[in-house]
Amino acid sequence: MAYVSIFRRTIGWVMAVTGLSLASFASLASELDPAAVQRGQAAAAICSSCHQQDGSGMNIPGGESWPRLAGLNSDYLIRQVHAFKEGTRQSASMMPFANILNDDQLRDVASYYASLNTPPKTPPAVDPTVLEHGKKLALEGDWSRYIVPCSSCHGPSNQGVGSAFPGLAGQHPGYIAQQLEAWQKGTRSNDPQNLMGAIAKRLNSDDIAAVSAWLATQPAQ
Ligand code: HEC
Ligand code: HEC
Repeated sequence: MAYVSIFRRTIGWVMAVTGLSLASFASLASELDPAAVQRGQAAAAICSSCHQQDGSGMNIPGGESWPRLAGLNSDYLIRQVHAFKEGTRQSASMMPFANILNDDQLRDVASYYASLNTPPKTPPAVDPTVLEHGKKLALEGDWSRYIVPCSSCHGPSNQGVGSAFPGLAGQHPGYIAQQLEAWQKGTRSNDPQNLMGAIAKRLNSDDIAAVSAWLATQPAQ
């Protein structure tokens, strides 16, 4: 399949430019420490008012959506909380919570959310032609505009690869769009080698709406 070879090639390239090793692809949900998951379940209570106790988050059209955390890689989640602490990611509602947990508690909570396989919530209905455009961007890209397929880094089904490339499938469309806009504006700047910043700047607002809507319809695991 053409996109699988593009995927392999791009992963090779990304690993070369970011210095990532195969070790970063080895962290699987099955390797999570069950005791940490259990402690994290209790500690996640303060996060659940937004992210929900089952990690499903919430799509908030026109507002700041709460990301789905269920099933995301635990090391990825830890890195993002540090990014809010350091200000390379900005969010008025999330930043006050980034400092509440110490490093041990954060590892527990991240392990808990990573261990969940809550089914995604049904996204809002979208015109089929919009979904078709989104699917094309996600799986084939648009080489005439140097837009690499999302799946070349985020995995063949966009379900994530290791701790470097988060799953996008089943994520809330409002949240995906919010992140692409944050990279365009420069309020999210924590990604290795500005990989996402470069891609986001090549997308127009129709592309963002379409690719976010399609990814949200996909199974998370
Ligand atoms: C008041 C609501 C609220 C609470 C409570 C909250 N968050 Fe968040 N969180 C958000 C929002 C909103 C975002 C997305 C911000 C953005 O657009 O970048 C976010 C983003 C995140 C992300 C990034 C997810 C990703 O896919 O990159 C992580 C990880 C996270 N929160 C963890 C936590 C943890 C752990 C707690 C509890 C200590 C917590 N949050 C409490 C609102 C909240
Ligand atoms: C060259 C590799 C690459 C490609 C291609 C790529 N991404 Fe990413 N993306 C990344 C990396 C790396 C991250 C994690 C950044 C970080 O560590 O904060 C990321 C993160 C994201 C996030 C944040 C997810 C979250 O949970 O916060 C979104 C949304 C996203 N990408 C959307 C897309 C879309 C849509 C496409 C296709 C149009 C795409 N990406 C293509 C490398 C890529």
